Amino acid sequence: MTIVLDASVHEAVGDREIDESVLRRIADSWPRRATVRTDLDRISAPEEYDRALPDYPEHLLPFAEHPRWLAAEPGQRQQVLTMAWLVYNERVIAAEEHVANPTFAKIMHGHFPGADGVHLKRAVQQTHVDEVWHTYMHMIAMQRTREVRQVTGEPRYPHTVTFRRLQEAQARAGEAWQRDLLKLVWTTVSEISVNAYLELLSRDETVQPLHALVPRLHARDEAAHSSVMVEVAKALYVHLNAEQRRAFVDTLPKALHAFVEQDFAVWPGILTAAGIEHAEEIVADCRRASGSNLLVRDFSGIRRIVREMELDELVDYDFGAGAE
Ligand SMILES: [Fe+2]
Ligand SMILES: [Fe+2]
Repeated sequence: MTIVLDASVHEAVGDREIDESVLRRIADSWPRRATVRTDLDRISAPEEYDRALPDYPEHLLPFAEHPRWLAAEPGQRQQVLTMAWLVYNERVIAAEEHVANPTFAKIMHGHFPGADGVHLKRAVQQTHVDEVWHTYMHMIAMQRTREVRQVTGEPRYPHTVTFRRLQEAQARAGEAWQRDLLKLVWTTVSEISVNAYLELLSRDETVQPLHALVPRLHARDEAAHSSVMVEVAKALYVHLNAEQRRAFVDTLPKALHAFVEQDFAVWPGILTAAGIEHAEEIVADCRRASGSNLLVRDFSGIRRIVREMELDELVDYDFGAGAE
């Protein structure tokens, strides 16, 4: 189902040509900067795994200060940190595979009016290639962790909170164009916000070096993707009718919240699998005590797109709240 272009909107925006120079510059630089070209070897033959180092930074766990966590045995805590790292990767992969890549494919297939520019298409296709490579990087890192740590007894992880929120919103949407638009907005937010998520680990010197390297390499590509997505969103937005534009604007803060919130649902299974008792109680305590329920607190990406799309007056969300 294609988003139907409203004729009156087409006239109104007919004189607003999208400037493709930004996309052209980004597309031209791709062969030199894409990590799939420059850093393939670092992923294929990573440095030694230091078993003494944790797989994930403890301070990012929502229950890091809970007395039952602090009282757990070192072996149990190591298992939780290992699974936390695996889940961290799962969240990235789900965003790429279930949200961004299907949207990029739809853009390339001409599903959304306004995505016809030569350089726009080059940049979107390059972004799509990068995303598939990112999934590969995270997959390799996860396989290595499972092998070295001899991970057994992992629970079935629920869908990530970001994806669950999208599914919930899609279930409430009555029409196909609304569901398509939800996915487009989720992709937009993901592309402009994923760096804040990756930077939770990319500069961390306390974890396995590979566990900082993969997010760091990934973030380098995403710095370009955020610029691509801002331009793509602008190009598509001018072709939306008034109802679709309102839906786009209303959805932005919901998608952002889904992207930055703590995923409490994943932890009881992990704590239990590591043999820590009272898992539900630990997580419930944290949920109650937690002031903001946010995992990511850097909202610079969303602030940028709202500014560049000139939506400041329309988007109903305080992007300063919780920001660092
Ligand atoms: Fe990515
Ligand atoms: Fe991306």
